Amino acid sequence: MEIRKIRLNNVGRFTDLEVPFAPTEKHASKVTVFVGNNGAGKTTILKSLATSLSWLVGRIRTDNGGGSPIQEDVVTNGESFASIDIKVSGISHPQASKSTIYSWTLARALRGHKSKVNSSLTKLTELAELYRFHIGLTDDTGSLPLVVFYPVERSVLDVPLTTRKSERPFDQFDGYENALSGGVDFGRFFEWFRDREDTENEQGISTTVMEQLKKISGSDERLASELKSMHLASRDPQLSAVRSAVKKFMPDFSNLRVQRKPRLHMAIDKLGKTLNVSQLSQGEKSLMALVGDIARRLAIMNPSLKNPLKGEGIVLIDEVDLHLHPKWQRSLIQQLTATFPNCQFILTTHSPLVISDTKDVLCYVLDDGELKERDGLYGLDANQVLLDVMDTDVRNSKVQGRLDRLLELLQDKKLKEAKSLFEELSTELAPGHMELTKAALLIRKLELRSA
Ligand SMILES: Nc1ncnc2c1ncn2[C@@H]1O[C@H](COP(=O)(O)OP(=O)(O)O)[C@@H](O)[C@H]1O
Ligand SMILES: [Mg+2]
Repeated sequence: MEIRKIRLNNVGRFTDLEVPFAPTEKHASKVTVFVGNNGAGKTTILKSLATSLSWLVGRIRTDNGGGSPIQEDVVTNGESFASIDIKVSGISHPQASKSTIYSWTLARALRGHKSKVNSSLTKLTELAELYRFHIGLTDDTGSLPLVVFYPVERSVLDVPLTTRKSERPFDQFDGYENALSGGVDFGRFFEWFRDREDTENEQGISTTVMEQLKKISGSDERLASELKSMHLASRDPQLSAVRSAVKKFMPDFSNLRVQRKPRLHMAIDKLGKTLNVSQLSQGEKSLMALVGDIARRLAIMNPSLKNPLKGEGIVLIDEVDLHLHPKWQRSLIQQLTATFPNCQFILTTHSPLVISDTKDVLCYVLDDGELKERDGLYGLDANQVLLDVMDTDVRNSKVQGRLDRLLELLQDKKLKEAKSLFEELSTELAPGHMELTKAALLIRKLELRSA
């Protein structure tokens, strides 16, 4: 399932805005990215998508169920009503063609006013019913589409010290739990992980037993490989999906597990050393929480897929670069699409690294409520993206001004003045500064020439 288009009327700062999403004819990827200054309206777009999709989720979960209404403070100041139209297509379902478009409208009038547009949810109900009647089937038509929104205020891994055992078994709908109202819920993640791991250990060969068996089998290679394949076959496919997703994003980390001693906690190995998950850095935690949460939800919603990471869905992430090390920002989109190939991603970012490293991404620049498509960002260096797309100087502007002046002096062959400015800048800027090194070379050249 993919969102084709959304149209906002009197929502936040937008009077009338229409946004198509990738994949489009020109952009083959399933990734749309919004960049723009603070207050440009990026979050407004994601939240509107989440509001609109909450109705689909509500109606899949229960017959005639609902979602969140448009909040009153979302209606553009001075207007009396707001509406959100959405169009989705690409439904993989035996009773729908991929090209069929389902659209629905959500409207809200302020108290005492009449809306010029009414909500219209007929197609939404139709779509939700397609899914409702197929849940639990043991082929891939029994899958549910993931719909999840990670807002900026997503909490990062506050791992609860003690967790209760979950009160009821997890079911396929639990993939939607808090999916549009809070994003990562690591407490719940922990609970789920523990639950699955318990079953895995009861029914299969636990990792500890495996270690002991390996010792006993000694040098018998055939026995060892037999044991290994038995062990793998007894692993829980849902947990395996989460483990493999985390591993793909963070290759230095492995063996995410629940440890019961000395007290209950979640442990992971980093380059061979065991750590409590709460000891990881903020960046490591956020990436793990994000990837782990998407993988867990997909696993829950696609119980019959051999590889649940191939499940379908829509993932909205606000400020996707939040807390992430530049190295991770750079490969983020590429990793997301490789790990979750059938999910559509709609992202916002402040980081030039995020958008310069993937082909075929649909990138929009939001400027003062106006939307412009930007092509050809692939392979640009981060400075150029800052300058061209994000309208930000790559350097402190005073320093830049003086460096420009230095270059001018050198071009005009004013050696004496140039040297004195060079001395000044050298005391202030770090040794090895690129522009200064260049200037030093030019000065040397001029000196040689005049000698
Ligand atoms: N009800 C409203 N009426 C008019 N403008 C609004 C309303 N609500 C929010 N805004 C404007 O929208 C901006 C917030 O947009 P937001 O989507 O949070 O921006 P971004 O995520 O790009 O930083 C605010 O700066 C404000 O100017
Ligand atoms: Mg925002």
